[in-house]
Amino acid sequence: MNYRQKSRKREFYYKEAIKAGYRSRASYKLIQLNEKFALFKRGNSVLDIGAAPGGWSQVASQLVSPGIVYAIDLEYIEPIEGVITIRGDITAPETKKRLRTIISEPVDVVLSDISPKVSGNWSTDHARQIYLSEEALRLGISGILKQGGKFVCKLFMGDLFDAYIANLKKLFQVVYQFKPKASRKSSAEIYAIAKGLKSGPIRKKKPAQNKQTTGEKQ
Ligand SMILES: C[S@@+](CC[C@H](N)C(=O)[O-])C[C@H]1O[C@@H](n2cnc3c(N)ncnc32)[C@H](O)[C@@H]1O
Repeated sequence: MNYRQKSRKREFYYKEAIKAGYRSRASYKLIQLNEKFALFKRGNSVLDIGAAPGGWSQVASQLVSPGIVYAIDLEYIEPIEGVITIRGDITAPETKKRLRTIISEPVDVVLSDISPKVSGNWSTDHARQIYLSEEALRLGISGILKQGGKFVCKLFMGDLFDAYIANLKKLFQVVYQFKPKASRKSSAEIYAIAKGLKSGPIRKKKPAQNKQTTGEKQ
């Protein structure tokens, strides 16, 4: 795709978003992800991480209505019908605690479109984005996403990508990777779609209590 075709595509989704009343072009990425992977059912509950200005939350809320969407971001999110908006930093322990109080019942789907403010230095931006995505996943699997639930997450491509996907494969029954049409080919972002959270977070085995140590190297 040449520059003119790319900007026409960008403009197309921008215009469509305005026509449909969506707050961001990103709405179309979630619509396309849902068309391909059947993410939502009516009555579902959803947590949308990194949700401002609210394009994904608008789409999710329409698709799960009369279900509920919780949307969290560092930035203020203008109110959306059917959406409980929360302002906070998901890496902060007090935000995680607050979220667990607000979300009383585990949700069916956790979405993360989180990204840091990009610096232009790709390896820094990639590392920051993967760190935020790890935080989103940690939050999801620490009692917020129900067993069997779905986790959808934007990832910046780079050397930490494979380890992130490998971890998802340990935690979920199936994991897909997909780049929706609404995502620019040049953007180096890809979406991971993980379905079927296995029972609870994986924990390291504790050493047996009564095992004697010999002082020998293990
Ligand atoms: C690409 S935007 C999300 C767009 C959104 N999905 C939509 O459709 O409107 C990424 C968001 O991640 C948020 N973000 C970055 N770091 C965060 C953090 N530590 N906690 C919460 N949100 C964060 C940013 O403020 C930004 O609004």
